[in-house]
Amino acid sequence: MQFKRRTYTCGELREKNIGEKVILNGWVSTRRDLGGVIFIDLRDRYGITQIVFEPNHNQESHNTAKELRGEYVISVEGIVEKRSEETINPSLATGTVDLMVEKLLILNKAQTPPFLIQDKIDTNEETRLKYRFLDLRRPELQKNLLLRHKMYQTVRDYFDENNFVEIETPMLMKSTPEGARDYLVPSRLHKGKFYALPQSPQTYKQLLMVSGFDKYYQIVKCFRDEDLRADRQPEFTQIDVEMSFVKQEDVFNVVEGLMKKTFKNIWNKELETPLPRLTYAEAMEKYGSDKPDLRFDLEMVILNDVFAKSEFRVFKDQIADNGIITGLKIPGCGNYTRNQLDVLTDFVKKQGAGGLIWMRVREEGLEAPVAKFFSEEEKQNLVKSLNTQTGDLIFILTGKKLKILSIMGALRLEMARRLNLIKEDTPPSLIWVTDFPLLEWDEETDRYYAMHHPFTSPRDEDLELLETSPGETRAKAYDLVLNGNEIAGGSIRIHDSSVQSKMFKALGITKEEADLKFGFLLNALKYGAPPHGGIAFGFDRMVMLFTGSQSIREVIAFPKTSSAISLMDDSPSPVSEEQLNELHIKIKK
Ligand code: AMO
Repeated sequence: MQFKRRTYTCGELREKNIGEKVILNGWVSTRRDLGGVIFIDLRDRYGITQIVFEPNHNQESHNTAKELRGEYVISVEGIVEKRSEETINPSLATGTVDLMVEKLLILNKAQTPPFLIQDKIDTNEETRLKYRFLDLRRPELQKNLLLRHKMYQTVRDYFDENNFVEIETPMLMKSTPEGARDYLVPSRLHKGKFYALPQSPQTYKQLLMVSGFDKYYQIVKCFRDEDLRADRQPEFTQIDVEMSFVKQEDVFNVVEGLMKKTFKNIWNKELETPLPRLTYAEAMEKYGSDKPDLRFDLEMVILNDVFAKSEFRVFKDQIADNGIITGLKIPGCGNYTRNQLDVLTDFVKKQGAGGLIWMRVREEGLEAPVAKFFSEEEKQNLVKSLNTQTGDLIFILTGKKLKILSIMGALRLEMARRLNLIKEDTPPSLIWVTDFPLLEWDEETDRYYAMHHPFTSPRDEDLELLETSPGETRAKAYDLVLNGNEIAGGSIRIHDSSVQSKMFKALGITKEEADLKFGFLLNALKYGAPPHGGIAFGFDRMVMLFTGSQSIREVIAFPKTSSAISLMDDSPSPVSEEQLNELHIKIKK
């Protein structure tokens, strides 16, 4: 029997089709044999249609239907019938009709899959990744990838409407300065030389501005050999953007427009713009994170003033040592038990804090083992600074500034989780974090690193600091943060070669080194580079958040594990001696 092309998909039939003769192709999703009558849910990516085999209707196809098993691929021809009132399935788009099968053709048999092709399966992720082609049949992943597709289209439409040009940049390139390890590709033709896969198209998009393209974007793969987490993959996708003759505000406008459109198209939500902004310093002091989640309130307060004259040894030492004292009020948790507080103390200790100071706010005053070390005035000022009420719980941490603020930030998130402060219907929080430091000091290597990348411009008013106290220089750099996730980062670039030299000097990069690494870009800057700036979105992270997924692996068709392995095709894998020889490579024993 010849395979006949479908006349409808499995998600299409409605009451208006009743009486019609149709052909469907698809996969057997479930099969129920009700003593004589066989019901099958036939599935494709458009939906599910119930098809029915009755001996009275067609004996031959009913006989063949007994052979059908899950995931068999079949073609059926039959008549669309109305379901009786009591069998109508309102949760199925095709739920008012059945297809009474007259002809059945098995197009392909299937082995029993290692897990059920449905949502909410109880299977470990390794098995899902090994059989990703089956995993991707599941409705949830189909939905995620279809939404991802819709987001690509939203992005492309938006940038096209706004006169941006999509330009591809090379995948085989010179090492880029995004700060992670490169994936290297050995050259066969040039012994001992390597290409790097792009960590981002940063240098190319700047060159495109020198070339006069004015507004560029690209949806592009980037590669970084770094420690992986739920929101990181070794290869991931960016929406990469660059613009000429712009200031930070112009980049913000373009990005806010894109986010407005995405909120509307994907979530059917109106996004209010301009978006709220926090400086990096505020974000760290109030929320202990450069990607604060503002879907809930809990706000940290710096308490150095309250304890400026403290006799309490721990505070006294920290204040003398330029440390910080930060406090966090947790409303209504004053009844936390010693046990609960011990668990939280362990939590902060694991993150590197010396300990956790806690105080219960009682009718009669502050209750805590440390309360005796505080003067009445200090207690009063503490209560005032944190604006506490009876029944609240106070946490205090002290130590080195950034470290301690981050730990309190982690405790803030942990408390929000414990108190279930983020509900399903909590509105999303989208904010800018601005004024990042230009440089960050690395204790291990005893030098400064660019916090964003070495082409990021210092703020004009901070230019002098770059030479006098580099660590205090603020950058024209910004991140976009959605629900506590960094979804985009960018900056206004340096387009003046004298500023670029100062930056390299602060980074301890010699002229020779700079020429070797980025000579092509520095050279281009000498040929009339316009002022320019841009941003890049982590597209996978965006899709993860817009689909409500917990990991970016759920929105990438063929992701790698957290140890950068592709379980399906088993890469990375060894290659032949011959291939290695051609590449002039010897593997160390
Ligand atoms: P940045 O390094 O901040 O900036 O990257 C931009 C965004 O990419 C996402 N991202 C990742 N997503 C998944 N897996 C990863 N391993 C990963 N690493 C980063 C984040 C991040 O916000 N060239 C600059 C941009 C610019 O200055 O215009 C850059 O790449 O969401």
